[in-house]
Amino acid sequence: MQSLLAELERDPSWQAPGRLRERAEALDRIERAMLYLPTVAAGSVDPDQALLDRAQALQARLEAIDQEVYRDLREDLRSGAGARRLLQYASDGAGFDAAYDADGDAYDHLDALLSGVLQFEPPQADGIEPVAEMVFYQPTPARHIFDLIARLDLDAHDLLVDLGAGLGHVPLMVAACTPARSLGVELEPAYVEIARRSARGLNLDRADFVQADARAADLSAGTVFYLYTPFTGSVLRSVLDTLRGIARARPIRVCSLGPCTALIAAEPWLRSDDGQRGDRIVVWRSVREA
Ligand SMILES: C[S@@+](CC[C@H](N)C(=O)[O-])C[C@H]1O[C@@H](n2cnc3c(N)ncnc32)[C@H](O)[C@@H]1O
Repeated sequence: MQSLLAELERDPSWQAPGRLRERAEALDRIERAMLYLPTVAAGSVDPDQALLDRAQALQARLEAIDQEVYRDLREDLRSGAGARRLLQYASDGAGFDAAYDADGDAYDHLDALLSGVLQFEPPQADGIEPVAEMVFYQPTPARHIFDLIARLDLDAHDLLVDLGAGLGHVPLMVAACTPARSLGVELEPAYVEIARRSARGLNLDRADFVQADARAADLSAGTVFYLYTPFTGSVLRSVLDTLRGIARARPIRVCSLGPCTALIAAEPWLRSDDGQRGDRIVVWRSVREA
């Protein structure tokens, strides 16, 4: 612990606002080092108390810088200044691809960044009733969202529809970072309310949310559809058939992450150059059918 604190205090480059990754790593290292501080018997004087105080003070400084960064980025979005700084901090100078040798489902400092900016209220998990073939809520890891946004090149004519949108991370970020509109379709009313509140808090009026079963929702205006394996079996079949119908009238793109990618790969009306990657969102283009 002593040497870790000395190292962090010697090189305070982690204080720069954009050094989110470094601060997350520093917090992680401090937390792990704390586990190895010897515990003190009741009634005796703790020789490590000073070290612990120093570590906690450093933790508080690191967290305070992150909070200030999130406040500034929220203000950028609210005031209409845009997401330039958010995207700059998120890309970390390294580009999003750097993370793809890691586990596709892992969460990192970019998820903390998104949560800090979007400021969701925690969902009431016990209010959610399981429905057959429905997949439980799990947000798309933030680095996949930034990567997708960078690859899609969305314009003002696009409407990205997140099928099973959860708390709305993807539609909210699309509205924040691109000129496109976005729509989150979500079965769980509590999630829809949380997403709408986040959108209102950031003045993201191009992000819309509807509470609906994706099988019954009006998807006809969508140009890009996103599925983070929200459902399986007959529900997925029904939604893919709807998308196929839309694609008969005009080209669309379908983006998938997780196990549903293998099922979507078997759709004869969709093609992708991405292959069936499990660690990255696959972007599929519809092909004209006879
Ligand atoms: C794995 S989460 C994905 C959340 C979000 N798309 C994201 O990437 O952050 C799947 C979501 O789909 C929702 N869902 C499941 N079945 C659904 C259905 N038939 N219609 C609409 N939403 C559904 C669940 O409530 C859950 O929030």
